[in-house]
Amino acid sequence: MRELIDLNKEELRKSRKDLSHLPEQKETDKNKNLESKDFFGGKVIIITGASSGIGRAMAINFASKGANVVLAARKLDRLNRVGEIIASFGGNALIVPTDVSVHRDCYFLIDKTLEKYGKIDILINNAGISMRASFLDVDIDVLQRVMNTNFWGTVYCTRHALRHLIVSKGSLVSISSICGITPLPGRTGYAASKHALDGFIDTIRVEQIPNKLHVLSVHAGFTSSNIRNRALNRYGNEQRETPRNEEKMMSAEKVANEVAKALTKRKRDITLTRDGKLIVWLYKRLPAVADKILYKEMAKEVNSPI
Ligand SMILES: NC(=O)c1ccc[n+]([C@@H]2O[C@H](COP(=O)([O-])OP(=O)(O)OC[C@H]3O[C@@H](n4cnc5c(N)ncnc54)[C@H](OP(=O)(O)O)[C@@H]3O)[C@@H](O)[C@H]2O)c1
Repeated sequence: MRELIDLNKEELRKSRKDLSHLPEQKETDKNKNLESKDFFGGKVIIITGASSGIGRAMAINFASKGANVVLAARKLDRLNRVGEIIASFGGNALIVPTDVSVHRDCYFLIDKTLEKYGKIDILINNAGISMRASFLDVDIDVLQRVMNTNFWGTVYCTRHALRHLIVSKGSLVSISSICGITPLPGRTGYAASKHALDGFIDTIRVEQIPNKLHVLSVHAGFTSSNIRNRALNRYGNEQRETPRNEEKMMSAEKVANEVAKALTKRKRDITLTRDGKLIVWLYKRLPAVADKILYKEMAKEVNSPI
């Protein structure tokens, strides 16, 4: 396995050396010439969780700008539907059914991408599931399942893609959440998985300073998608309803646009939604006040478990 994925060390050393001769681009130049289409055209972008919500919106957005998108998720029929939309406007999509919680699937995803395109420019670790239960009575297996997808899925995909991203001077992206920074009552496993994700991604960013790897952490706020319908209840079954008003949330398309902008500007991290920004700001300054607001907000949800 290692043989297939590990780049030849000499190749890696050479590519670092070659790139180190390139002049640093000035920020103003960068912003000028990184017109979206120019930036995305021909780029190879792997998106996990591409069959629904934010992942689907990013896939369509980036493919419409000329990127070769690699769509990964478990359900082939849903992936195919996204692939058909992309094909309808002449875009390019490679579909690789993947369960990111399975290590060999992630290896296969990266391998298939390299086989088809020979490089990886951007890896977007977006696949995710949520949960909703009080920790007092949740089946512990629920927390493990959430962790296996949200945290370990990112670790596995990143592990196999990282060397290739270094060579392409590409971007590593994680779709985290406001609750990667703050608590989220009724979602212990979900908040823990996003905190773990942030620690992992932030540390890779620092480790890769010498290689100038771009690492973007997206702290999404409430976004209209399937995540709450599919969130696991205390027994580990999908709750099949959303306890919040999805219509009042940011759209997945808007999130995709924000990620596209952040990629072109090689931003370090972004925090989305007005409420999301507000609670992060407050939590950093007055955490005990933020705790109470978070409790009240989540306790008033329909059938709140807390
Ligand atoms: N929506 C929000 O309010 C919100 C807020 C903050 C952060 N986020 C984050 O945004 C990301 C996308 O979520 P979303 O809101 O777009 O939810 P969504 O509509 O439910 O989409 C989730 C995607 O992840 C895939 N997925 C789930 N488990 C997987 C696995 N084991 N392997 C591969 N793919 C898997 C799903 O496809 P399959 O089921 O077919 O595998 C689906 O494509 C998640 O990381 C989520 O935590 C969402």
